[in-house]
Formats: sequence, structure tokens, C-alpha cells
Amino acid sequence: MLENLPFHLYRNYVHKCAEVERSFFKGLGFEKCNYSAHSLDFTENCCLQSIALVFHKGKMLQNMQSTSAKKGGTGIMDFYDVVKTRRSVRSYKLEPISDDVLNRVLNAARIAPSGGNRQPARFILVKDKERKQELVPLCNGQKFIAQAPIVVIACGQDIQINRGGYMGKLSMLIDVAIAVDHLTLAARAEGLGTCWIGSFKNNAIKQFLKIPETHQVVALTPLGYPDGNPFVETTNRLALERLVCEETWQF
Ligand SMILES: Cc1cc2nc3c(=O)[nH]c(=O)nc-3n(C[C@H](O)[C@H](O)[C@H](O)COP(=O)(O)O)c2cc1C
Repeated sequence: MLENLPFHLYRNYVHKCAEVERSFFKGLGFEKCNYSAHSLDFTENCCLQSIALVFHKGKMLQNMQSTSAKKGGTGIMDFYDVVKTRRSVRSYKLEPISDDVLNRVLNAARIAPSGGNRQPARFILVKDKERKQELVPLCNGQKFIAQAPIVVIACGQDIQINRGGYMGKLSMLIDVAIAVDHLTLAARAEGLGTCWIGSFKNNAIKQFLKIPETHQVVALTPLGYPDGNPFVETTNRLALERLVCEETWQF
């Protein structure tokens, strides 16, 4: 079968699907083949062996691409691709999230840094269909949150630290925001969509979820597989020179 493979076609394909291919070859143990997205540094032999393995497993490269793009999968996406293609997702499939995937995403939030390692973030997962619906009016009518299989409510403990000499008990917002950001990026790496929800009624949600006085709701996010293909790089950001200057404030 190997002799009949149209190698040049696969080589073109590999060029176009650099990200998928990189993880694919890695997964097959060809990590040291010096692969680069723009030049095929790995040997033809290495490529042919990999293709043979794919055929052997009965998987077409194209299937692998779509599965990989959809599901993400642990550790297979380049970090900057994750960051660049995380988008706010406002349309979800009800497709369930496996425990493995969910645990990886939650674990990413768990290991986030926090001031003094105080770890004030807590997460409530709402999965029940009716309870998700009840959250909609508490998030000012944002219906899409209930489409996702899980709504994550990120809470933070009021801890009095005057970071910068002015933050006081709101300093926990930083710690919780970092944890939520870990969660959203890990979700993207897994092919899951999220959307920061900052428009919500704190007291009403606290009552609904029995959150104690000592804690506040910081953000919510639906968590689920997107309906559609939202993971595209944004152009809607300020240019770097508008955000960064040197030595003194020059904006
Ligand atoms: C703190 C915060 C609160 C937000 N609140 C909402 C919200 O209530 N509803 C919503 O649809 N999007 C919300 N967003 C999403 C932003 O609109 C979105 O991040 C921004 O437009 C950039 O788009 P992107 O996330 O696709 O890159 C929020 C984002 C952040 C960071």
C-alpha cells in the first residue's frame, strides 16, 4: 500500500494543516523530526511512516483534522493558537462534556496563581436543565447560557488585601479572573466554547445558589461545544503600540 500513496498530495496537505500535523506527528512519537509549518524539514521517510500508520489505523488525515479541530484535546494545540482563537461563544450544542475533558478544564482553573496563594476562587457547575433556565433572567436575559450543558459560576471570597493600597476586599477579583481565564483557555484547547458573563445580578444568584455572605459572584460562563465554528482569530483589538510604552506613561 505504501508504494501507491500519492506522497506529493500528502505533502501539500501537510503544508496546509500545519497545526494538526504537528500534533499528529508528535502523537506518533516523531517529536524530534524537526517539523516546521513552512518547510518540510522532516524526512520523507518519516512522513511516509506516519501516513502508513494512519492508514493502518483506518483513519484518514481529513477525519483527524476535523476531529482535532472540534475536540481540541489535551496538549495538542499550540499555546498561541489557543490564545488567538479563543472567542466568546454564544451558541452551543447540548453535546455532553466527558468527565476527563471537564476535569482537565477545571484543573487548569485550580492551578491558577493567586496572591499569597490564598486561592479564593470557587466554582459552581449548574447542569440541571431547569436550573440553567432559571439563571437566564439572573443574567439579564442572556438565553444562550442555558444552551450549554454546563454553566460555570465563578465565585470569590472577600479577602481584605489592599493591593496597590486601594483594592481592599475587591482584590479577590484579580485572583478569580485569572482562574477563569485559565478555564476559558483550557476550554478552547479542548474545543469547548466559553463566554465571560459579567452582566448578572450578584445578590439574586447568591440566593439561588446558596452562596454565603462571605463570597461574591465574579463571573459566569457557559461551557460546551460550540454550534458553528467560532474559533477564528480576532482582528478587533488595539494595536500593540497603543497598549505598550516604555519608561513613562506616553498614551
Ligand atoms: C469581564 C467580562 C464580562 C463580559 N460580559 C459579557 C456578557 O455579560 N455577555 C456577553 O455576551 N459577553 C460578555 N463578555 C464578552 C465580551 O463581549 C468579549 O470578550 C469581547 O467582546 C471580545 O470578544 P471575544 O471574547 O470573542 O474575543 C464579557 C467579557 C469580559 C472579559
